[in-house]
Amino acid sequence: MPGGIEEVSSSRQARLGLLLGSIVELLAGHANPDERLLMQIAEQLRAAAPELQIEPTHFPAAQPGEELLYELAVDPGGGPSLYLVSDGAGTHSPPHTHQTWAVVLGLRGVELNQLYRLAGDSGGRLQAVAAEQAVGPGECLVMQAEDIHATRVQGESCYHLHLYGRALSHLPPFATRCFDWPNS
Ligand SMILES: [Fe+2]
Repeated sequence: MPGGIEEVSSSRQARLGLLLGSIVELLAGHANPDERLLMQIAEQLRAAAPELQIEPTHFPAAQPGEELLYELAVDPGGGPSLYLVSDGAGTHSPPHTHQTWAVVLGLRGVELNQLYRLAGDSGGRLQAVAAEQAVGPGECLVMQAEDIHATRVQGESCYHLHLYGRALSHLPPFATRCFDWPNS
């Protein structure tokens, strides 16, 4: 049974250590995992999520218009790292790449994701790929390093786990990974 805050925190850290260890094993040196491998990583994340005991008492939810990032397991060497993101109602992100692979798992609430590709001209314009994809509780989105997406919260504030191939502190600044909106 869950104990006090310290006990919950140490059991979370232990589970996070196991999770990241199994992901590093799965990667086995693949700097650019394909979709099949990313889906395997997503399954590991989905299996671990209930045991991480992510509760609003420990990780307060974002207020409307607010975006919160909690570091759950950040590799000091810049390798695969896991974050908890709470985005408040009404928030959105512009089209961007991560320049590393990414797996997003919904925990609470719904985030709408629009994927894009670069049009085949020299203008760097974006074209939407398929319809918006809703990522709700238990649902995963996997992206490779070059994939481009934009997000917006549907309804109330949400929680998602974001697992990246590299720690965010080792990626180029967010603003330099963004694109103009199509038709802007
Ligand atoms: Fe993103």
